Amino acid sequence: MNSPVMQGLNLNTPTYVKNAKLVAWVAEMAALCKPTSVYWCDGSQEEYDRLCAELVAAGTFKKLNPSKRPGSFLACSDPSDVARVEDRTFICSAQKEDAGPTNNWIAPAEMRATLQPLFDGCMAGRTMYVVPFSMGPLGSHISHIGIELTDSAYVAVNQKLMTRMGQAVYDVLGAEGEFVPCMHTVGAPLNAGQKDSAWPCNPSTKYIVHYPETHEIWSYGSGYGGNALLGKKCFALRIASKMGKAASEGPSGSPGWLAEHMLILGVTNPQGKKYHVAAAFPSACGKTNFSMLVPPQGFEGWKVTTIGDDIAWIKPNADGKMYAINPEAGYFGVAPGTNFHTNPNCMASLDKNVIYTNVALTDDGDIWWEGMEKDSGKLPEHLIDWQGKDWTPQIAKETGAKAAHPNARFTVSATNNPALDPAWDDPAGVAIDAFMFGGRRSTTVPLVTQARSWTEGVYMAATMGSETTAAAAGTQGVVRRDPFAMLPFCGYNMSDYFQHWLDIGKKVEVQAQAAGHKLPGMFCVNWFRKGTDGKFVWPGYGDNMRVLKWMIDRLEGKAEGEETLFGVAPKYAEITWNGISFSADQFKTVTSIDKAAWVEELKLHNTHFEQLAYHMPKALLDNKALLESRLAAA
Ligand code: OXD
Ligand code: MN
Repeated sequence: MNSPVMQGLNLNTPTYVKNAKLVAWVAEMAALCKPTSVYWCDGSQEEYDRLCAELVAAGTFKKLNPSKRPGSFLACSDPSDVARVEDRTFICSAQKEDAGPTNNWIAPAEMRATLQPLFDGCMAGRTMYVVPFSMGPLGSHISHIGIELTDSAYVAVNQKLMTRMGQAVYDVLGAEGEFVPCMHTVGAPLNAGQKDSAWPCNPSTKYIVHYPETHEIWSYGSGYGGNALLGKKCFALRIASKMGKAASEGPSGSPGWLAEHMLILGVTNPQGKKYHVAAAFPSACGKTNFSMLVPPQGFEGWKVTTIGDDIAWIKPNADGKMYAINPEAGYFGVAPGTNFHTNPNCMASLDKNVIYTNVALTDDGDIWWEGMEKDSGKLPEHLIDWQGKDWTPQIAKETGAKAAHPNARFTVSATNNPALDPAWDDPAGVAIDAFMFGGRRSTTVPLVTQARSWTEGVYMAATMGSETTAAAAGTQGVVRRDPFAMLPFCGYNMSDYFQHWLDIGKKVEVQAQAAGHKLPGMFCVNWFRKGTDGKFVWPGYGDNMRVLKWMIDRLEGKAEGEETLFGVAPKYAEITWNGISFSADQFKTVTSIDKAAWVEELKLHNTHFEQLAYHMPKALLDNKALLESRLAAA
C-alpha cells in the first residue's frame, strides 16, 4: 500500500495495513487534526518501552524504583482531569427518544457542527498515534475491532495493557473488515515553540461523544481513563450495547447480544465442577475485588478465577447457552482501598509492569495509597501526594489531604493476575450459569435472593440502586437508581434495553429447553446492609464466597431456600458458615425484608418507572403490580 501524503504530512502507512477504509479515514482525520506526524502502533514491547521512555522524558511518567516496582511508572494528571465526565458525555442518536431520558442528547448534525472546529488543528505540534485494538480475543466471533486515533502517548501505552493491541489486529481486519473509529484528542494544540505540560488536556472544554447509529466515538479535552481509553466505556459499553441490540432487529431472527457492565468469574468446587458467573455492580462497589475473590478459610478445595473485572460481552449460541468474553485484556482499577485484605490477588498483580495514575510516591520510589496502611500497620512518614505536594500523617490530620486521589488508578495487564482463568482469552467465551445484580444499600435490599423467573430477574436488575455517599453535600443516603449498573453506559434508551433483556431471555429459553437445560439463574445481592450502629454487618470480600456457594447450591437443586416477596432467599442453615462466627441474628439483619421499608421502596420504583415511561416494557409493570399485591398480602 502506498503512503498518501496529506498537505505535506507523510501518513507513514505501513505496508501490512490493507484496509482502504482505514487508510482513507486516517488521512481524513490527519487532514482535520493537523498533527506534526502520524505514528502507527505495532503493539510490540520495544514500542511500549520506547513510548514509556518518551513519557518519562516529557515529565508525564516517573519511573518507579525498579527494585520495588519493576517496569512500572507513575503519572499524575492535571487536577482538573481526574475522572469520567458524565455531564459531558453524549449519545447523539438521530432521535432523542433513542438516547432516552438517562443520557445527554444533542442532534448529530448539531454535535458535528460543534466538534468540527474543535478538532480542526487540535493535534498541532503533536504526534497522532494510530492504535489498532481488538475488544475480545483476536478473531473471536464475539469480538470487534476498534482503531483509536489519539494525540496522547499515555493513551497508546495504556491501550497496550488494556486491550489486544498491535499489528495482528490488521490481519484480522483484512482489506474489507469493519472497525469502530475512535477519535481522541487531549484538546491542547501546541503553538510553534510552546512548551508542553506534563498532562496536556483542555481544562474548560470536554466532549465524550457517541454516534450509536454510525458506531463512531469522538472524545475531546480529557486524557483520563474512560474519557480517553476509548475501548472501555465508550466502545465496549455504549457503542457495543447498541450494536448488540441492533443485531436483534435484523431479518435473521437473531436474539442479538449483550454488552454489560459485568465482571465474569469462574468458580470451581472441590469435585472440579466449574460454574461461570457474570455480575453487575455500579462503579466503586468492589467489582475487581469480587472478580479476584480468594475463598475464605473453610472453603478448602474451592477456586475462584477471573475472566474479567468490569465488562462482559455475552452472545447466545444455538445450543441455548449464553457465552461471555471479556472484551478487555487488562484492569484499570481503583487503587485506594485495595490491600492484601480486600484483594490479595490484585495486590500480587501490581508488583511489576504497572502504570499508576494519581497515586502517591514514597521516598524510596514506590507507590502508596489510602488503605495500604492496613497491610503495613502504619502510615508512611512522608510522601509526595498525587498533586506533587508533601504529605505527612500530620498534614493529613490537619487538612484532610489525601495522598492518592480517591479515583487513582492502576493499569495492568490481565496476565499479571495470579487468579487469571485459563479460559480468559478463549475465543468461544465461557457459558454463563448465573447473573448477579448488586447495588449498595444500607437497608431494605437483602443479602441475596434468587429471581423466580427471567422477568423477575430483569425487574431486580432494572430497579437496582445505590445510596449516594457523602461526596455530594446533603445527599447522603439518597438512593440513585442504576439499572443493571448501566446508567452512565447504556448507548440507547434504557427501557428499550430492558426490553432487549426480556426478548433475549425469551428467545434463548426456547433453545435452552430444546437442549435440555435452563436459562442462567438470576440473583440480586447486597453486601452493604448496616446495623443500628451504622457499621456493615456482612464481612464481604472473601466471605462473599458463602453467597456464591449458596447460589451454586441453588443451581444444583441442593438448597430449597425460602420464598420472599423479592425472590427466594437462603435459610440460615443453607449458608456454609465454616471458619466464621456469624449468628442467626446477624443473618437476620442482612436478610430481613421490612414491610414498611418495602412500601417506601416500591414508591421509589414507581418514580423510577415513571421517568422511564417511554417504551417501558409491560412485563416489568406487571411484575411491579405483582410485588405490590404480595406486599399488601404480607
Ligand atoms: C470504571 C467505572 O472505571 O465503572 O470501571 O467507573
Ligand atoms: Mn466499571
